[in-house]
Amino acid sequence: MQLGIVTLFPAMFAAVTEYGISGRAVRSGLMNLELFNPRDYTTDKHRSVDDKPFGGGPGMLMKTEPLMASIAAARRAVEKKHAAGADKTKVIYLSPQGKTLKQDSIIDLAQRESMVLLCGRYQGIDNRVLESEIDEEWSLGDFVISGGELAAMTLIDAMTRFQPGALGDEGSALEDSFSNGLLHSPEYTRPQSINGQDVPEVLLSGDHEAIRKWRLKQSLGATWLKRPDLLQAMSLETEQEELLEQFKQDYLHD
Ligand SMILES: C[S@@+](CC[C@H](N)C(=O)[O-])C[C@H]1O[C@@H](n2cnc3c(N)ncnc32)[C@H](O)[C@@H]1O
Repeated sequence: MQLGIVTLFPAMFAAVTEYGISGRAVRSGLMNLELFNPRDYTTDKHRSVDDKPFGGGPGMLMKTEPLMASIAAARRAVEKKHAAGADKTKVIYLSPQGKTLKQDSIIDLAQRESMVLLCGRYQGIDNRVLESEIDEEWSLGDFVISGGELAAMTLIDAMTRFQPGALGDEGSALEDSFSNGLLHSPEYTRPQSINGQDVPEVLLSGDHEAIRKWRLKQSLGATWLKRPDLLQAMSLETEQEELLEQFKQDYLHD
């Protein structure tokens, strides 16, 4: 995946390019990030990247000309690396006003060959840039952070998990919470017993079918307890309904 990132703080992206699974995906060329700083596209002697909003009010906006020039440069650079016939690169603005990112949107976005991510700063961007340059707005959730970098890095990290070859075990992203609509079941590692708390016996049994059922039951139960809204949005299969009912009975009689 080719990513052009427009940001006033390119150094922040070391968090995804140097560490963990996303760092490995960058080093192996699965994810290719190119950073574009609007400050490099300024023409005034102070290299200003902010400007006052018309009509007054608190705060500043990102200065329009360097912003538009850096978006155009990012789009050109990313499209140059495109396979022939690839779809036009979309420009995504990370914004609290966008559609909230969910696992199913991450899975869709992760299929794209390229994208430009615009990280806002200050009070955001001129509305004409929004209308003329931005194809999609995506949000982390209903709260405001100080800049789009953390949101862009979150998106990049989450999309990396769905690039073939990025994870040690291909199937693990598909078993993560939300991928099948449910929360992941609880997990245990060594030691087998700690402070009087034991690992559930079924996990030591070696009986794969019993373990599958136990995990599905716990996954349904965790979702029922922590995120009942997710269950309401699903239609459960017969086995799932039965296991959830068993979980509820166990829970209520404990
Ligand atoms: C201080 S915010 C600007 C908020 C804007 N004045 C508003 O109220 O809609 C600065 C930048 O942080 C980013 N940002 C803030 N909250 C975000 C969120 N929930 N999701 C994604 N990006 C966000 C955006 O890129 C935004 O341009």
